[in-house]
Amino acid sequence: MIFHKKRWHAISGQPLTEMDKQVMYWENKGKLVPTRELIKTPEQIEGIRKSGIVNTGVLDEVASQIHEGMNTLEIDKIVYDYTVAHGAIPAPLNYEGYPKSVCTSINEVVCHGIPKEEDVLKEGDIVNVDVSTILDGYYSDASRMFIIGKTTPEKEQLVRVTKECLEIGAEAAKPYSFVGDIGHAIEKYAEKYNYGVVKDLCGHGVGLEFHEDPEVLHYGHKGTGMLLVPGMVFTIEPMINMGTWKVFIDADDKYGWEVISADEQPSAQWEHTFVMTEHGLEILTE
Ligand code: MF3
Ligand code: CO
Repeated sequence: MIFHKKRWHAISGQPLTEMDKQVMYWENKGKLVPTRELIKTPEQIEGIRKSGIVNTGVLDEVASQIHEGMNTLEIDKIVYDYTVAHGAIPAPLNYEGYPKSVCTSINEVVCHGIPKEEDVLKEGDIVNVDVSTILDGYYSDASRMFIIGKTTPEKEQLVRVTKECLEIGAEAAKPYSFVGDIGHAIEKYAEKYNYGVVKDLCGHGVGLEFHEDPEVLHYGHKGTGMLLVPGMVFTIEPMINMGTWKVFIDADDKYGWEVISADEQPSAQWEHTFVMTEHGLEILTE
Protein backbone atom coordinates (compact mmCIF):
# COMPACT_ATOMS: atom_id res chain seq x y z
CA MET A 1 0.00 0.00 0.00
CA ILE A 2 1.21 3.50 -0.77
CA PHE A 3 0.73 6.14 1.87
CA HIS A 4 0.15 9.65 0.65
CA LYS A 5 0.85 12.63 2.84
CA LYS A 6 -2.40 14.51 3.29
CA ARG A 7 -2.32 17.56 1.06
CA TRP A 8 -3.18 20.99 2.37
CA HIS A 9 -6.79 21.91 1.72
CA ALA A 10 -8.95 24.94 2.46
CA ILE A 11 -11.36 24.67 5.36
CA SER A 12 -14.64 23.80 3.67
CA GLY A 13 -17.15 26.61 3.30
CA GLN A 14 -14.52 29.27 3.97
CA PRO A 15 -12.71 31.49 1.47
CA LEU A 16 -9.02 30.79 0.83
CA THR A 17 -6.77 32.65 3.23
CA GLU A 18 -3.35 34.05 2.36
CA MET A 19 -1.94 31.01 4.20
CA ASP A 20 -3.99 28.58 2.09
CA LYS A 21 -2.85 30.26 -1.12
CA GLN A 22 0.82 30.28 -0.16
CA VAL A 23 0.89 26.71 1.09
CA MET A 24 -1.00 25.33 -1.93
CA TYR A 25 1.22 27.29 -4.32
CA TRP A 26 4.43 25.94 -2.81
CA GLU A 27 3.07 22.43 -2.37
CA ASN A 28 2.26 22.38 -6.09
CA LYS A 29 5.85 23.44 -6.78
CA GLY A 30 6.99 20.31 -4.94
CA LYS A 31 8.19 22.04 -1.77
CA LEU A 32 7.89 20.56 1.70
CA VAL A 33 4.99 22.32 3.45
CA PRO A 34 3.60 21.96 6.98
CA THR A 35 0.44 20.04 7.80
CA ARG A 36 -2.29 21.96 9.61
CA GLU A 37 -1.28 20.26 12.88
CA LEU A 38 2.00 22.20 12.82
CA ILE A 39 0.16 25.54 12.78
CA LYS A 40 -0.50 26.30 16.44
CA THR A 41 -3.73 27.97 17.56
CA PRO A 42 -3.53 31.24 19.55
CA GLU A 43 -4.44 29.22 22.70
CA GLN A 44 -1.61 26.77 22.08
CA ILE A 45 0.85 29.61 21.46
CA GLU A 46 -0.18 31.19 24.79
CA GLY A 47 0.40 27.83 26.50
CA ILE A 48 3.87 27.51 24.97
CA ARG A 49 4.60 31.15 25.90
CA LYS A 50 3.78 30.39 29.56
CA SER A 51 5.99 27.32 29.45
CA GLY A 52 8.73 29.53 27.98
CA ILE A 53 8.42 31.97 30.87
CA VAL A 54 9.17 29.16 33.36
CA ASN A 55 11.98 27.92 31.10
CA THR A 56 13.56 31.40 31.08
CA GLY A 57 13.16 31.55 34.86
CA VAL A 58 15.12 28.30 35.17
CA LEU A 59 17.97 29.66 33.04
CA ASP A 60 17.99 32.96 34.99
CA GLU A 61 18.19 30.96 38.23
CA VAL A 62 21.13 28.94 36.85
CA ALA A 63 22.77 32.20 35.71
CA SER A 64 22.51 33.64 39.22
CA GLN A 65 24.08 30.58 40.87
CA ILE A 66 26.60 29.11 38.43
CA HIS A 67 30.19 29.42 39.65
CA GLU A 68 33.67 27.95 39.58
CA GLY A 69 33.99 24.85 41.78
CA MET A 70 30.34 23.86 41.35
CA ASN A 71 29.61 20.45 39.85
CA THR A 72 27.01 19.91 37.15
CA LEU A 73 24.84 17.70 39.37
CA GLU A 74 24.25 20.86 41.44
CA ILE A 75 23.00 22.60 38.28
CA ASP A 76 20.67 19.65 37.72
CA LYS A 77 19.23 20.14 41.21
CA ILE A 78 18.67 23.87 40.65
CA VAL A 79 16.83 23.09 37.40
CA TYR A 80 14.70 20.32 38.91
CA ASP A 81 13.77 22.28 42.05
CA TYR A 82 12.91 25.55 40.25
CA THR A 83 10.89 23.76 37.57
CA VAL A 84 8.84 21.68 39.99
CA ALA A 85 8.32 24.67 42.32
CA HIS A 86 6.71 26.46 39.35
CA GLY A 87 4.29 23.63 38.64
CA ALA A 88 6.22 22.36 35.63
CA ILE A 89 8.17 19.24 34.61
CA PRO A 90 11.75 19.12 33.24
CA ALA A 91 11.26 17.65 29.76
CA PRO A 92 14.62 15.82 29.57
CA LEU A 93 14.00 13.69 32.68
CA ASN A 94 13.38 10.10 31.49
CA TYR A 95 13.06 11.32 27.88
CA GLU A 96 14.17 8.36 25.75
CA GLY A 97 16.34 7.10 28.59
CA TYR A 98 17.91 10.46 29.43
CA PRO A 99 18.63 10.28 33.19
CA LYS A 100 18.66 13.93 34.34
CA SER A 101 16.65 17.18 34.17
CA VAL A 102 19.06 19.29 32.10
CA CYS A 103 21.96 18.99 29.68
CA THR A 104 25.29 20.51 30.78
CA SER A 105 27.90 20.46 28.03
CA ILE A 106 31.40 21.66 28.91
CA ASN A 107 34.09 22.73 26.38
CA GLU A 108 34.46 19.92 23.77
CA VAL A 109 31.09 18.43 24.70
CA VAL A 110 28.84 19.58 21.85
CA CYS A 111 25.49 18.78 23.50
CA HIS A 112 23.56 16.37 25.75
CA GLY A 113 26.24 16.41 28.47
CA ILE A 114 24.78 14.54 31.45
CA PRO A 115 25.15 16.27 34.84
CA LYS A 116 27.51 14.42 37.19
CA GLU A 117 29.30 14.98 40.45
CA GLU A 118 32.76 14.55 38.89
CA ASP A 119 32.19 17.38 36.39
CA VAL A 120 33.39 20.36 38.42
CA LEU A 121 33.36 23.75 36.67
CA LYS A 122 36.78 25.37 36.51
CA GLU A 123 38.08 28.78 35.50
CA GLY A 124 38.05 29.19 31.71
CA ASP A 125 35.40 26.54 31.02
CA ILE A 126 32.62 27.35 28.58
CA VAL A 127 29.45 25.47 29.45
CA ASN A 128 26.11 25.14 27.71
CA VAL A 129 23.07 24.70 29.93
CA ASP A 130 20.13 23.38 27.89
CA VAL A 131 16.75 23.61 29.63
CA SER A 132 13.42 22.27 28.38
CA THR A 133 10.15 22.64 30.26
CA ILE A 134 6.68 21.11 30.14
CA LEU A 135 3.95 23.31 31.63
CA ASP A 136 0.30 22.22 31.34
CA GLY A 137 1.38 19.90 28.52
CA TYR A 138 3.20 22.63 26.55
CA TYR A 139 6.92 22.33 25.74
CA SER A 140 9.58 25.03 25.51
CA ASP A 141 13.31 24.67 24.93
CA ALA A 142 16.28 27.06 25.25
CA SER A 143 19.97 27.04 26.08
CA ARG A 144 22.67 29.53 26.94
CA MET A 145 26.43 29.53 27.26
CA PHE A 146 28.14 30.45 30.51
CA ILE A 147 31.80 31.41 30.79
CA ILE A 148 33.37 30.41 34.10
CA GLY A 149 35.62 33.24 35.28
CA LYS A 150 37.95 34.37 32.54
CA THR A 151 38.52 32.28 29.44
CA THR A 152 40.76 32.56 26.37
CA PRO A 153 39.97 35.13 23.63
CA GLU A 154 39.44 32.18 21.26
CA LYS A 155 36.74 30.56 23.41
CA GLU A 156 35.17 33.93 24.13
CA GLN A 157 34.90 34.60 20.39
CA LEU A 158 33.37 31.14 19.79
CA VAL A 159 30.68 31.81 22.39
CA ARG A 160 29.91 35.27 20.95
CA VAL A 161 29.85 34.18 17.30
CA THR A 162 27.61 31.20 18.10
CA LYS A 163 25.10 33.58 19.70
CA GLU A 164 25.31 35.75 16.58
CA CYS A 165 24.67 32.63 14.47
CA LEU A 166 21.38 32.12 16.34
CA GLU A 167 20.41 35.79 15.87
CA ILE A 168 21.34 35.82 12.16
CA GLY A 169 19.47 32.56 11.60
CA ALA A 170 16.37 33.96 13.30
CA GLU A 171 16.48 37.12 11.18
CA ALA A 172 16.61 35.03 8.00
CA ALA A 173 13.32 33.33 8.91
CA LYS A 174 10.50 35.34 7.33
CA PRO A 175 6.90 34.22 6.87
CA TYR A 176 6.73 32.08 3.70
CA SER A 177 10.49 31.69 3.52
CA PHE A 178 12.08 28.27 4.05
CA VAL A 179 13.88 26.47 6.85
CA GLY A 180 16.93 26.28 4.54
CA ASP A 181 17.18 30.09 4.58
CA ILE A 182 17.97 29.85 8.30
CA GLY A 183 20.65 27.21 7.87
CA HIS A 184 22.19 29.01 4.92
CA ALA A 185 22.54 32.27 6.88
CA ILE A 186 24.10 30.48 9.86
CA GLU A 187 26.55 28.48 7.77
CA LYS A 188 27.68 31.55 5.79
CA TYR A 189 28.37 33.48 8.98
CA ALA A 190 30.21 30.62 10.74
CA GLU A 191 32.36 30.10 7.64
CA LYS A 192 33.84 33.58 8.04
CA TYR A 193 35.45 32.38 11.23
CA ASN A 194 36.41 28.97 9.86
CA TYR A 195 34.18 27.31 12.41
CA GLY A 196 32.49 23.95 11.90
CA VAL A 197 28.69 23.84 11.89
CA VAL A 198 27.50 20.59 13.46
CA LYS A 199 25.35 18.63 10.98
CA ASP A 200 24.33 15.59 13.01
CA LEU A 201 21.89 17.50 15.25
CA CYS A 202 19.34 20.13 14.39
CA GLY A 203 16.62 22.43 15.69
CA HIS A 204 13.04 21.21 15.65
CA GLY A 205 9.37 21.96 15.91
CA VAL A 206 8.29 22.09 19.55
CA GLY A 207 5.21 22.88 21.63
CA LEU A 208 2.80 19.99 21.84
CA GLU A 209 5.70 17.53 21.96
CA PHE A 210 9.42 17.86 22.73
CA HIS A 211 10.50 17.24 19.15
CA GLU A 212 8.13 17.83 16.24
CA ASP A 213 8.54 18.63 12.55
CA PRO A 214 10.18 20.48 10.93
CA GLU A 215 13.86 19.63 11.22
CA VAL A 216 15.74 22.92 11.41
CA LEU A 217 19.18 22.33 9.91
CA HIS A 218 21.85 24.89 10.74
CA TYR A 219 23.46 24.60 7.29
CA GLY A 220 22.26 24.21 3.73
CA HIS A 221 20.70 26.08 0.84
CA LYS A 222 18.10 28.81 0.58
CA GLY A 223 14.67 27.63 -0.53
CA THR A 224 15.13 24.09 0.80
CA GLY A 225 13.43 22.40 3.75
CA MET A 226 9.95 23.21 4.98
CA LEU A 227 7.97 26.35 4.15
CA LEU A 228 7.70 28.62 7.22
CA VAL A 229 4.13 29.62 7.96
CA PRO A 230 2.71 31.91 10.69
CA GLY A 231 1.74 29.83 13.73
CA MET A 232 4.65 27.40 13.45
CA VAL A 233 6.70 27.04 16.64
CA PHE A 234 10.26 25.72 16.48
CA THR A 235 13.76 26.02 17.88
CA ILE A 236 16.94 27.28 16.30
CA GLU A 237 19.94 25.92 18.19
CA PRO A 238 23.23 26.08 16.29
CA MET A 239 26.10 24.00 17.61
CA ILE A 240 29.32 25.60 16.38
CA ASN A 241 32.74 23.95 16.70
CA MET A 242 36.07 25.75 16.83
CA GLY A 243 37.50 23.01 14.60
CA THR A 244 35.86 20.29 12.54
CA TRP A 245 32.06 20.00 12.34
CA LYS A 246 32.38 16.28 12.91
CA VAL A 247 31.25 14.74 16.19
CA PHE A 248 31.08 11.38 17.92
CA ILE A 249 29.19 9.85 20.82
CA ASP A 250 31.32 9.56 23.96
CA ALA A 251 32.10 5.85 24.46
CA ASP A 252 32.39 6.45 28.23
CA ASP A 253 28.76 7.57 28.46
CA LYS A 254 26.80 4.44 29.31
CA TYR A 255 23.57 6.19 28.31
CA GLY A 256 24.87 6.93 24.80
CA TRP A 257 23.80 10.59 24.88
CA GLU A 258 26.93 12.74 25.17
CA VAL A 259 28.14 14.23 21.88
CA ILE A 260 31.80 15.34 21.59
CA SER A 261 33.59 17.25 18.81
CA ALA A 262 35.70 14.79 16.75
CA ASP A 263 38.91 16.80 17.28
CA GLU A 264 37.98 17.54 20.91
CA GLN A 265 38.21 21.28 20.30
CA PRO A 266 35.66 23.52 22.08
CA SER A 267 32.06 23.76 20.92
CA ALA A 268 29.30 26.26 21.74
CA GLN A 269 25.51 26.38 21.38
CA TRP A 270 22.67 28.86 21.96
CA GLU A 271 19.00 28.04 21.56
CA HIS A 272 15.61 29.74 21.64
CA THR A 273 12.03 28.64 20.96
CA PHE A 274 10.34 30.90 18.38
CA VAL A 275 6.86 31.39 16.97
CA MET A 276 6.50 32.54 13.38
CA THR A 277 4.21 35.57 13.12
CA GLU A 278 2.97 37.60 10.14
CA HIS A 279 6.05 39.80 10.60
CA GLY A 280 8.81 37.34 11.41
CA LEU A 281 9.99 35.36 14.41
CA GLU A 282 9.06 36.16 17.96
CA ILE A 283 11.11 34.62 20.79
CA LEU A 284 9.10 32.64 23.37
CA THR A 285 12.05 31.96 25.69
CA GLU A 286 13.48 35.41 26.39
N1 MF3 B 1 17.25 20.16 24.75
C1 MF3 B 1 17.69 19.33 23.65
C2 MF3 B 1 17.23 20.01 22.40
O1 MF3 B 1 17.53 21.13 22.24
C3 MF3 B 1 17.12 17.97 23.75
C4 MF3 B 1 17.87 17.12 24.58
S1 MF3 B 1 17.09 15.62 24.73
C5 MF3 B 1 17.52 15.26 26.31
O2 MF3 B 1 16.54 19.50 21.57
F1 MF3 B 1 16.90 14.22 26.64
F2 MF3 B 1 18.83 15.14 26.34
F3 MF3 B 1 17.17 16.28 27.06
CO1 CO C 1 15.97 21.81 21.16
